[in-house]
Amino acid sequence: MERRSCGVRHVCTVTLLLISVCPLCCRASWMWLGVTSAGVSEQLGCANLPLSHRQRELCRKKPFLLPSIQNGARLAIAECQSQFRNERWNCSTSEDPSVFGYQLTSGTKETAFIYAVMAAGLVHAVTRSCSLGNLTECGCDARLQGGGSSAEGWHWGGCSDHIQYGTWFSRRFIDSAVKNMSTTRGGYTLLTMNQHNSEAGRQAIDRTMSTDCRCHGVSGSCAVKTCWRTMAAFERVGVYLKERYEHSVQVSDRSRRKTRKKDQRRLHVDKHQLIFFNKSPNYCLEDRRRGVAGTRGRRCNRTSTGPDGCNLLCCGRGYNTHVVRDVQHCECKFVWCCFVHCRRCESMNDMHTCK
Ligand SMILES: *[C@@H]1O[C@H](CO)[C@@H](O)[C@H](O)[C@H]1NC(C)=O
Ligand SMILES: *[C@@H]1O[C@H](CO)[C@@H](O)[C@H](O)[C@H]1NC(C)=O
Ligand SMILES: *[C@@H]1O[C@H](CO)[C@@H](O)[C@H](O)[C@H]1NC(C)=O
Ligand SMILES: *[C@@H]1O[C@H](CO)[C@@H](O)[C@H](O)[C@H]1NC(C)=O
Repeated sequence: MERRSCGVRHVCTVTLLLISVCPLCCRASWMWLGVTSAGVSEQLGCANLPLSHRQRELCRKKPFLLPSIQNGARLAIAECQSQFRNERWNCSTSEDPSVFGYQLTSGTKETAFIYAVMAAGLVHAVTRSCSLGNLTECGCDARLQGGGSSAEGWHWGGCSDHIQYGTWFSRRFIDSAVKNMSTTRGGYTLLTMNQHNSEAGRQAIDRTMSTDCRCHGVSGSCAVKTCWRTMAAFERVGVYLKERYEHSVQVSDRSRRKTRKKDQRRLHVDKHQLIFFNKSPNYCLEDRRRGVAGTRGRRCNRTSTGPDGCNLLCCGRGYNTHVVRDVQHCECKFVWCCFVHCRRCESMNDMHTCK
C-alpha cells in the first residue's frame, strides 16, 4: 500500500510526512539536504529527514553537525553541476528525495562521481566548520603547532585544517555497515562500489591539500615565515574528481551471475580510482524510465569542439538558431565625484539549441 503511494514520486515531496513513512521506496537520500532550504530541514529535524536508520541516530547524537551536512551537500551538488554543465548528463537534480533520480543507483560512472563528490563535500564542510572554531569536537590541527624548520626559517602557525574529524564523520555518516571491503570477493556490490567511490572522494580532499605560508619581518623581508596546511578550494577538488571520473575503471557486478569467470577476478583497484559496473546510456534522448532528460533544448556552442559543441551535445540531431538580444553596460565613464555613468548597449547574438 505504501509502496504504491510512493510509485508517484512527487507524492513524497508534496506530503512531507510520507518521507518518514517510506524513505526507501522513494530512494530517498541524505543528499536531499543539498536541494532543500535550511529552514525546511530544521523544521523537519533529524527524525523526519530522509535519512537511513544509522544516519538518523548519528544526526540525533550530533545535531550540531546538521548545518555542516547541509552545507556539504550543497557544495557538492553545485560543484557537480559546474563540472558537468557542458556535458550531456549535466548533474541535474530534482527536489524530490531521490535527488539525482535513477543516476544515484544506476551503477554508472555518473553514480561514481556523485558518491565521490558528496562524500568529499561532507569532509570539506565539516572541516571548514572545525577550523572556524564552530564545533567543540574538533579544531585546527594541533599536531603541527610549534613544529617547522628553523634552519629554513619557517614554522607552523595559524590554523591548519584538520581533516581527520571531517573524514571520520563522512565515513560514519555515509558508509553502511560493511566495514572490511577486502572481504568482498568476486566483484563488488552496489553498496561496496558506492563505498569505494565515497572513500576516493574523501581521499581527494587529502590529496589536494597544500601548504600556504606568509612572510613576516621588516618590510616584507621574510625573516620569519609562518606556514599552515589548508584544504584546496572545493572547485579544485571538483576538477580533480572530474579527471578521476574520466579515467574511472569498470569492475564486475557480483550480483550478475552472467559475468564470465575470468571477469570475476577482482582487479586491483587503487583507492583513489573511481569504479563503476555499468556502461552509461548516451544521455541523448529522453528516457523517463532511466531518468534521462535528453539534450533536446540544451544550449550548445556551434564553434566548440568540446562536449558543449552542437555536434556532440545534440548527438548529431542538429540544432535551432535563435537570435537573442543581449543588453550590457558599456562606455562607462567616471563622473567627478562619484558616479559611474554607463550606456546600455544592445547586441543581437545567435543562440543555438539542440533539436
Ligand atoms: C540540465 O539540462 C536540462 C535539459 O536537459 C535543463 O532543463 C536543466 O536546467 C539543466 N540543469 C543544470 C543544472 O544545468
Ligand atoms: C556554526 O554553528 C551554528 C550552530 O551550531 C550554525 O548555525 C552555523 O551555521 C555554523 N556556522 C558555520 C560557518 O558553519
Ligand atoms: C579484513 O579482512 C581480511 C581477511 O579476512 C583481514 O586479513 C584484514 O586484516 C581485515 N582488515 C581489517 C581492517 O579488519
Ligand atoms: C564557444 O566555443 C568557442 C571555442 O571553444 C569559445 O571561444 C567561445 O567563447 C564559446 N562561446 C560561448 C558563448 O560559450
